[in-house]
Amino acid sequence: NTADWDVDAAEKGGYEHFMLKEIHEQPAAVRDTVSPRIINGMPDLSQDGVDMQKLKDYRQIFIVACGTAMHAGMVGKYVIEKLARKPVIVDIASEFRYRDPIITKDDLMIVISQSGETADTMAVLRLAKEVGAATLAVVNVVGSSIAREADMVIYTHAGPEISVASTKAYMVQISVMYLLAFELAYANGTIDKERCMELTAQLGQMPDIIRETLELKDTCSFVASKLVNAESLLYIGRGLDYALSMEGSLKLKEISYIHSESYAAGELKHGTISLITEGMPVIAVATQKKLIEKTVSNIREVKARGAMVILICDNSIEVGEGVADYIIRLPQTDEQLMPMAAAAPLQLIAYYTSVLKGNDVDKPRNLAKSVTVE
Ligand code: AGP
Repeated sequence: NTADWDVDAAEKGGYEHFMLKEIHEQPAAVRDTVSPRIINGMPDLSQDGVDMQKLKDYRQIFIVACGTAMHAGMVGKYVIEKLARKPVIVDIASEFRYRDPIITKDDLMIVISQSGETADTMAVLRLAKEVGAATLAVVNVVGSSIAREADMVIYTHAGPEISVASTKAYMVQISVMYLLAFELAYANGTIDKERCMELTAQLGQMPDIIRETLELKDTCSFVASKLVNAESLLYIGRGLDYALSMEGSLKLKEISYIHSESYAAGELKHGTISLITEGMPVIAVATQKKLIEKTVSNIREVKARGAMVILICDNSIEVGEGVADYIIRLPQTDEQLMPMAAAAPLQLIAYYTSVLKGNDVDKPRNLAKSVTVE
């Protein structure tokens, strides 16, 4: 009836789906998560009970989570290792807990969860506590089970996420990974104050950059029209772009039901490239300057075998004529922060593909928002 429809429309704030609304809420979610944690231009997680002087001395950092939250952890690994020079092991919660992991009281366990109720993530937190490791939870839902049991909690301020496909929660999870990496790197003496402030200032500007990337929605919907009839596709990237393409691929398969895989671009020639047939879409993410040439040569290899290539790169990168069929150009920011610029376009590609297929975007089949069973 009309009354229900009005309530529904009002809840979605005028957007057709919660997912689209939540994608558009990302600039505000990042601002709310990041700005209270920047003090005098420096990242400061002490108000969350995080003592960086202690954190820097842990032997090993683990980041464990499920699905999208695990992909946020992958970004965390790259930036923490790159900037703070601390070894980070990222794992899937359901794998970590059953493999008799080597974790001790000298280690730090970071778990990431939007809902704070995911059963496997919870089990990993308990396992870490049992061996006496320090535990830090990055959680969105205040007062959730994981938040209550962890020694330290950094809350992300995404607000309620209704769509099963996680978007704004991922964006704020990676924002927290950056805050952690910057502050830890400074505490560890692996970056100086100037660099730390520079990175932090860039992070503070990400809401504007994300807003700019939302303006790419028509391009993303055009790209979606090129994917909608595909049976299968590949996402490729290297380094941070690989971490990001894992998330892009999950988002697409989750709501469009098109099979997709994310592959480290350099691994293609070790098997996966045999899947390429005429017209198969390949989405290449290439935002890391040092790796761009390598990725471009992988793009040429798939293109030569008939792939239809969609390249996502920053607007300063020059790519030769004919390298890609379609290019999505992202606004520029510090290379380390490029995942935050590329995330929304990848989400929008998945969103429009799902819409074009007529799927139930917010409630994809077989999936629940919060996985509280093992
Ligand atoms: C992502 O779009 C998912 N629906 C899913 O992978 C999710 O991120 C995962 O189940 C983890 O949930 P959590 O963050 O609530 O722990």
